[in-house]
Amino acid sequence: MTSRSDEGPRDRPLPEDAGAGRSHGPVGDWGEDGSIDATARVVDAAPTDEERRIEAALRPRRLADFPGQQRVRDQLGLVLEAARRRQAPPDHVLLSGPPGLGKTTLAMIIATELEQPMRITSGPAIQHAGDLAAVLSSLAEGEVLFLDEIHRMARPAEEMLYLAMEDFRVDVIVGKGPGATAIPLELPPFTVVGATTRSGLLPAPLRDRFGFTGHLDYYNTEDLQRILTRSAGLLEIEATREGIHEIASRSRGTPRIANRLLRRVRDWAQVHGEHLVDQDASLAALELFDVDKQGLDRLDRAVLEALCKRFGGGPVGLSTLAVAVGEEPDTVETVAEPYLVREGYIVRTPRGRSASRTAWEHLGLQPPKSTPSQDQLPLGGRLDH
Ligand SMILES: Nc1ncnc2c1ncn2[C@@H]1O[C@H](COP(=O)(O)OP(=O)(O)O)[C@@H](O)[C@H]1O
Ligand SMILES: [Mg+2]
Repeated sequence: MTSRSDEGPRDRPLPEDAGAGRSHGPVGDWGEDGSIDATARVVDAAPTDEERRIEAALRPRRLADFPGQQRVRDQLGLVLEAARRRQAPPDHVLLSGPPGLGKTTLAMIIATELEQPMRITSGPAIQHAGDLAAVLSSLAEGEVLFLDEIHRMARPAEEMLYLAMEDFRVDVIVGKGPGATAIPLELPPFTVVGATTRSGLLPAPLRDRFGFTGHLDYYNTEDLQRILTRSAGLLEIEATREGIHEIASRSRGTPRIANRLLRRVRDWAQVHGEHLVDQDASLAALELFDVDKQGLDRLDRAVLEALCKRFGGGPVGLSTLAVAVGEEPDTVETVAEPYLVREGYIVRTPRGRSASRTAWEHLGLQPPKSTPSQDQLPLGGRLDH
């Protein structure tokens, strides 16, 4: 089952984040499944249900209103403009990157910019090839099919998708066993927009069928300030530059977290009678919600502490580390780790995860002599905050 927006994305708010985060049902029943995690971290990058509603209001609608990710934006702008001039659907687009950076937002923008309706479904909602066949065979010409969490689609559906993306055809299987026949069904040209937090998990043949892949990276403080200023305006929150800056610099480079922290600081300001998101309110609220100066939260610190204190700085395997902090390996790998690696706290090696000098210092601990310093790290530098 998918949701359908015949009027096009500009005329009606679309359901958000189909099948993303903790709600794995098909589109349409998200939000109703009571799957909100009451212990959700304030810097967890997955949206809660209440948040999906607020997020819908905060999403930029056009490419020109989307701050940050300059490169992806320029590339995507070109792909869309060329398609418009050819008056044909663009290549299929894959958006990859950690949660909360704007994949769903960009998918909606693509449909809006193409002035096409968008159909939303997700990998976990497609458990059988038949689920996908039903969606594909009802697509209109030019329509945008958004496949969230595309890496979680069932294998037979994946194979059906290859054919559909390449030849605009599905083979509908009629009958069972030796008598089964495949009846080819022609599809009108359409555009798949896939989103994934784990592009490494996509099989190569599927990845190859996307003509354009946009990799979203963490935002710098300046872009987050721009996003927060815009959100504060839309939510009618009065905020000072310093207040916004404080929040932006502690949001782990992630707009979803930035917007969430903004609302918590607003709460704090309201309860304390000031109604103003300034630096004092930001500092007090962020402390209350356990977000430290670098934007690391309890899980991030738990990971670093386990790594340094229990495993002597590593290397240690992902699953061992996950058990030590009481989380699913997937959560540690997609939510906590990418940022910790990006910021140079953790090094990923073939033998496991190791703590860098920065990690030890962040915890106020003396690093062992052999600890690599940041500039020796193989991956990523620090962001400019
Ligand atoms: N570049 C951006 N500018 C403004 N808001 C953004 C941007 N990127 C993401 N957001 C906001 O962050 C929230 C999460 O974005 P979303 O697209 O759902 O992330 P993802 O699908 O990658 O998890 C949304 O409320 C969206 O409005
Ligand atoms: Mg999403």
